[in-house]
Amino acid sequence: MEVINNIKLMQEISESIRYSKKKIAVVPTMGYLHTGHISLIRRAKEIADIVITTLFVNPTQFGPNEDYDKYPRDFNRDFELTKYNGSDYLFYPDTKEMYPINFSTSIDISKITEKFEGVFRPGHFKGVATVVAKLFNITKPHYAIFGQKDYQQTLVIKRLVEDLNFDIEIIIVPTIRDYDGLALSSRNTYLSKLEREKAGILFKAIETVKSEIAKGQRERLILNSHLHKTLRQIPEIKIDYASCAIANTL
Ligand code: PAF
Repeated sequence: MEVINNIKLMQEISESIRYSKKKIAVVPTMGYLHTGHISLIRRAKEIADIVITTLFVNPTQFGPNEDYDKYPRDFNRDFELTKYNGSDYLFYPDTKEMYPINFSTSIDISKITEKFEGVFRPGHFKGVATVVAKLFNITKPHYAIFGQKDYQQTLVIKRLVEDLNFDIEIIIVPTIRDYDGLALSSRNTYLSKLEREKAGILFKAIETVKSEIAKGQRERLILNSHLHKTLRQIPEIKIDYASCAIANTL
């Protein structure tokens, strides 16, 4: 596996892969890889000839009081994991390479970004859409693979691809969960042992709603009350948002 830090070089490599009629899949990540990311790389490997994993902790998708500085980073471990799991290239630019001094463009997607995560993290999806568009232009993929865990993000990226006519197939891979159902996430490392144990309630809440739906319940308000009641079994929990929604539009 080759590590590429330079945008121009990555574009040249991608161009020559395309010229040789091989298919490229890109797996965009912010690193600190876990089994969820690995499942994306493996899926990429199944469908494409060449896999490019990108590793860039994108500052523009973090708010001023968010965790950009303390976001977990471990390049050597990420390098070994991407290589071992069959990635052909690891695109690993620094911030100056991605956002040179005169950088002034951003992609602002309306509607789908105006709910849930978009309300609690203003500007987050603008940062995501902009960096993902850049990564698409740099790696020139036929396929791009994302995890279903960040569900709203998957809808934002599909909207980006449709609205700006990127000729790329977006592939969404199911969430990988821990022993108690908690979705794997690089940020789970922030949790203390006790907080980690309590976080299992998130999955319990989803399962409660799922079983109500299986019994025929379709009233959003009733489903939401089951969701919130289950979450409140942990008294210290502070809910930003938790809601059932229409899958395609939220
Ligand atoms: O899901 C992520 O890790 C990031 O939002 C992404 C898609 C790599 C863009 O920085």
